[in-house]
Formats: sequence, structure tokens, C-alpha cells
Amino acid sequence: MKGIILAGGSATRLYPLSKAISKQIMPVYDKPMIYYPLSSLMLAGIREVLIISTPRDLPMFEELLGDGSRLGMKLSYKVQLVPNGLAQAFVLGAEFLNGEPGCLILGDNMFYGQGFRTMLKEAVEQTERDGGACIFGYEVRDPRAYGVVEFDANGKVLSLEEKPQQPKSNYAVPGLYFYDSTVCAKAAALKPSARGEYEITDLNKCYLNEGTLQVKLFGRGFAWLDTGNCDSLLDAGNFIATIQNRQGFYVACIEEIAWRNGWISSDQLRNLGQEMKTAYGQYMVHLADTAK
Ligand code: DAU
Repeated sequence: MKGIILAGGSATRLYPLSKAISKQIMPVYDKPMIYYPLSSLMLAGIREVLIISTPRDLPMFEELLGDGSRLGMKLSYKVQLVPNGLAQAFVLGAEFLNGEPGCLILGDNMFYGQGFRTMLKEAVEQTERDGGACIFGYEVRDPRAYGVVEFDANGKVLSLEEKPQQPKSNYAVPGLYFYDSTVCAKAAALKPSARGEYEITDLNKCYLNEGTLQVKLFGRGFAWLDTGNCDSLLDAGNFIATIQNRQGFYVACIEEIAWRNGWISSDQLRNLGQEMKTAYGQYMVHLADTAK
């Protein structure tokens, strides 16, 4: 399975913060926002990732992350000229996926919680083994800003709606989607919605109509964080700071995950850490030095 991070858009809700810089490169406490979705893909065991962004912002992501070899990964980059919908990731990413299944994560979606790696691995395995699509549901107080999934009493999915005014449930669909190899053909056949976008919810509906859509639920002990406006961005940063400072473990330290995945050695981790004269760098050196 390959991964795609969609990190474009104009983030007008963060103006003037995002007027001259990509939202997904902004700090969430001590690291750029894109580290968080990238770390989710890495936890899923995904080693080949395409990053899609605007013509203005893509070079900055390339400067930040390079070709991925320092993480034992392969990163590539693609411009999205116009932000005309999330499903476009699979039109722009068709060549990259080259007939393989793909996982899409939105560059502004952050996940944190026990058992996340296991859920990700299950989603990868299931999609690779059985085909179809696997998406998630997360209960929120007000789901009107999201894709919303409705279930029957037996947990069967009844409907999917994008930003409904009258939601049929409180289950929002987070920006993390696993698809089989038919995804690019399905995305290419989509028509724009009333608001003129190629909607990810319409792509998910293709799988729902086919009877191949799985929805897994994140429990209430799990954090799915939003970074859409200044308050939620600040909340996300404070959340990460609280967890990290309390536990001493870093959230979304991509070098640590690469190392724990066996993609880089302890020596490589130490060298990467020594390049940064910050607590983040010292953390990596400490991990390498105390590795059994
Ligand atoms: O966060 C989860 C939600 O993401 C889902 O529940 C919704 O079903 C899904 O449509 C999406 O809703 P948003 O309102 O958050 O989508 P937005 O247009 O804000 O785009 C999400 C991110 O993707 C944002 O950081 C910008 C980026 N983006 C967006 C579009 C439309 C792109 O890179 N390219 C695009 O064409």
C-alpha cells in the first residue's frame, strides 16, 4: 500500500496566518503540522508517500522532507493547480499509485491514541486482502462541518453525507481513507458536487453502493484533532505539549517511527538527532543511546 498526503488548499479560515505560508507547515507545538499525518502513514507501515500541494507551497515541503531517504522512505511530490476537491488526490496520484491500493490522509488531520497502529495495520491488511475501502467514524458534538456516516442498529452503514445541515448521526468521517486499486478509476469518473468540488464523500459512496465500504469506529478515548481555525490550532498544540511533557514520549517524531519500524539504524537516528540542537534532537539521541 502507498500513501498520499493532501496538503494544499488556501486555508482562508486561518488568515492572516496562512496568507503567505501553507497551513500544513505551521507549527503544532514543536513540529510542522505535516509531521502528524506523515507519522500516521508511517505507523501504518507505509513507506512510499506522495505529497500533494499548491505550486507555491510544494517546494517548502520538499525542502522540509526531501526524498525521504533519511527516514528510509521514498517521498515524491505533485502539484495541485486548483484546490477542486479531495478526491482529486487519486487523479493526480494515479501515476504514483500505479495500480496499487492507496491510503489518503489530509495534511491537517491529527490522530492520537492507544491502539492506533493496530487499527491502521488492520485497515491496510483488510484493504489489501479483501479490496474495497476502509474509512473511520468519530463521534463529535457537531458534525455539520464534516462528512457524516449513518448506521443502523446492527452497525450497517446506511448513508454518507458531506456537511449536512441536518446530520443523521454524530459520527464524522475523519480525513483518513484506505482504498483498493480501483480507487483511481472511481475518482476519475466522479462529477463535481453542487459546490464545484470532487468530493471524497462521493468517492466513498461509490464503495458504499458497491457494498464494499467498511467503517471502523474510533472510541471516545481516542483523539482526532482539528486544525481548521486559530482556536483548534492552538488546542492541538497545547494537547501535544501536554502529552509530551507529561510522558516524555514524543508524538509524531517521524525519525523515531522510522527507527522503530526498522527503516533506519540507531546510528542513523543518533546522527539525525545530533543535527538539531533542540529537545527534539536530544530525544532522538537519547533513544539511540538507550536502545537495547
Ligand atoms: O477533516 C475531515 C473532513 O475533511 C471530512 O469529514 C470531510 O468529509 C472532507 O470533505 C474534509 O472536509 P473539510 O471541510 O475539512 O475539507 P477542506 O476543503 O477544508 O480540505 C481539507 C484539507 O485538504 C485542507 O487542509 C485543504 C486540503 N485540500 C482541500 C481541497 C478541497 C487540498 O489540498 N486540496 C483540495 O482540493
